[in-house]
Amino acid sequence: MTDTLDTTGDVGEFTAVDTTADASWFIHFMDLANALPEYVAVRRELITTLGDLTGSTVLDVGCGTGDDARELAEHVGPTGGVLGTDLSEAMVTEARTRSAGSPLPVRFETADMCALPYDDGAFDGVRAKLVRQHCPNLDAADDELVRVIRPGGRLAVFDYDFETLAVDHPDRAATRELVACWVDGHRSGWNGRQLERRFLDRGLREVTVTPHTVRLPFGFFRASLEGKLAQAQASGQLSLSAEDLQSWWKPLFAAQENERFFASLTGFVLGATR
Ligand SMILES: C[S@@+](CC[C@H](N)C(=O)[O-])C[C@H]1O[C@@H](n2cnc3c(N)ncnc32)[C@H](O)[C@@H]1O
Repeated sequence: MTDTLDTTGDVGEFTAVDTTADASWFIHFMDLANALPEYVAVRRELITTLGDLTGSTVLDVGCGTGDDARELAEHVGPTGGVLGTDLSEAMVTEARTRSAGSPLPVRFETADMCALPYDDGAFDGVRAKLVRQHCPNLDAADDELVRVIRPGGRLAVFDYDFETLAVDHPDRAATRELVACWVDGHRSGWNGRQLERRFLDRGLREVTVTPHTVRLPFGFFRASLEGKLAQAQASGQLSLSAEDLQSWWKPLFAAQENERFFASLTGFVLGATR
């Protein structure tokens, strides 16, 4: 796996993996993200948040390449099982390919988290990492997450709050405009801070929320912002010209060159009992 990524892709369009020319861009983006040290800690907490998983049936919603589902499957043991579901057939195919020959109790299906094809209370635990933020109907998605957990079962969620993006840049005014535009370009830019309220409102109890700040390497920062900001500029959403936008990137390239680049983003792990 290389640690660079074409920066023209738009990570806000994870709902459209199958209709983009190159689904492998999204796969590579997720592999880069999941390799960050902070993600290791997030995955560990998501697993402990689900409680004792021995013998449990667990649903991983928006499973992507299935790496996390396989990690979960190591904890359920031979009497349990993990089902990974994703809207994208390309992702499900990748997840099945990566799991081929594995003795772990894990399987994969396509499903839209806004209308899950499973019975009420079908799972002991449900996990959703970085998928809610892409849903066009967040209320339906959250209702579904809760519906398929059995009474007493556990929910574990990780999502970013994009307004927490911090980047060290000399031009504060331009940076504020660009960050605000990037935040508002997401379907649910304030997703993270709303997690606790949204699941309390759905009747869950023992709700906990833990912040995790991720330091963003320059390549990952570029891949996350560059395509979106260029599109926003081209469609007239910014006061900056294309040249201004190009100039804004220059100090960041220089900082990266001098090992002075700094950016971070905070996400939140929610745990809750139905
Ligand atoms: C950022 S990736 C996260 C994947 C995985 N959970 C991880 O953390 O590595 C978002 C995933 O959500 C999937 N997705 C987007 N909208 C979805 C929906 N409505 N229902 C199910 N999956 C969806 C995408 O296809 C993609 O695989």
